[in-house]
Amino acid sequence: MEFKTIIEPFRIKTVEPIRQTTREQREVALREAGYNLFQLQAEDVLIDLLTDSGTGAMSSEQWAGMMRGDESYAGATSFYAFEAAVQRITGLKHVIPTHQGRAAERILFGSILRDGDIVPNNTHFDTTRANVEYRNAKALDIPIPEGRQPHLFHPFKGNIDLLQLEDVLSQNPGRVPLVMITITNNSGGGQPVSMANIRAAYEICRQFGVPLFLDACRFAENAWFIKIREKGYANKSPLAIAQEMFSYVDGCTMSAKKDGLANIGGFLALNDDELAQRCKNALILTEGFPTYGGLAGYDLEAIAVGLQEVVREDYLQYRIRSVAYLGDILIKADIPIVQPPGGHAIYIDAKAMLPHIPQSEYPAWALSLALFLEGGIRSVEIGSVMFGQQPDGSEEPAAMELVRLAFPRRVYTQSHVDYLAEVLLHVNTIKNRIQGMRITDSPPVLRHFTARLEPAHGSLFM
Ligand code: F0G
Repeated sequence: MEFKTIIEPFRIKTVEPIRQTTREQREVALREAGYNLFQLQAEDVLIDLLTDSGTGAMSSEQWAGMMRGDESYAGATSFYAFEAAVQRITGLKHVIPTHQGRAAERILFGSILRDGDIVPNNTHFDTTRANVEYRNAKALDIPIPEGRQPHLFHPFKGNIDLLQLEDVLSQNPGRVPLVMITITNNSGGGQPVSMANIRAAYEICRQFGVPLFLDACRFAENAWFIKIREKGYANKSPLAIAQEMFSYVDGCTMSAKKDGLANIGGFLALNDDELAQRCKNALILTEGFPTYGGLAGYDLEAIAVGLQEVVREDYLQYRIRSVAYLGDILIKADIPIVQPPGGHAIYIDAKAMLPHIPQSEYPAWALSLALFLEGGIRSVEIGSVMFGQQPDGSEEPAAMELVRLAFPRRVYTQSHVDYLAEVLLHVNTIKNRIQGMRITDSPPVLRHFTARLEPAHGSLFM
């Protein structure tokens, strides 16, 4: 007998209480936070889906690894365990630890980009885009057209547009120092990239002599989607699939706070000896010696173990299914989400759900506030507050107005998800009363983290 219920493949050894608040308390908290969920105190949040980054629960083996951590400044055994774990998956020659993903991005881009360069990517994540633009280079998003249509079903909506890639490379000789592919495509709905697409991008890049890098934060989730959706991979292990993905690239940046199953850490890995040397020099300047890169020895151990656990089939099956479980409930209730559900998150299409709010009044931001006010749920806007601000200071509406509900790894159970669904269905019944927002105070870059807002028409709810 094969039972159909997919269970959490773990039992719980340590618990952390979460706190109920009243709607009145949340109203005060929101006002004090300048209507910015990043500015809330976390203890005022009941279910925190702000991010899946660094918010996961570690396993008993990872905690055991923490105790083994070797804190030697140089050449610690923990570094070699970490290096071996990364190389087992990526096969890449140089492994450079960093304190998180964006540090790897800054070091890579700082070592390779010059003014006026172009970096094509299926879709840059916000910090990736900011780190490219900080080097006065252009961050060019070229997902396949299906990737920008939330309701359209496509098994690999994260794919990079190969025709556009070829165009950019042929029209800008010498100005594209690298091409990136983000797996899964976070800003585009947590959508996977197919093996065929990575392979084809690799062939195009090779033809133009340009290196291909993966932004590999969620490589294991991407591997799982390839296993269940791409022909020829059903009988391959997630590890073997990941190894094949990395065999087509010259390097990667990685935030171990996602598929490293760790609370902090990241790395840059690459094959080019000379570029690796330049990156290591930059690392020493700001992150630390190349065998710890701003991390403690115990962090390196936690990542080394996490990278082994994350490719387990029972884990990945549970992980992808728990996100899809919420997606199924929302689809049934006609709540518009990016289809199919992503690997680490559900993305609500706020433009479709709240057509009465113009993009200039940030419908996705308003919806995320409503979810907090009604049910204590913290999500994140991926829309025009996050992406509307242009490098020259002008404002342009984002391609999509999404609210992302990101699932921390191994943290919430099915009843938490049932509660979430209940809140979402409730908010759906009062959606016509939600009003738009206006920015009152904003920093020059990455404004979504610290901007202050207010209801554009007096209050969040009419
Ligand atoms: N690339 C992608 C695709 C990401 O999703 C992130 C982080 C980074 C790079 C940067 O990594 O945070 O370790 O510096 N994403 C988190 C999120 C913050 O909420 O999606 P980091």
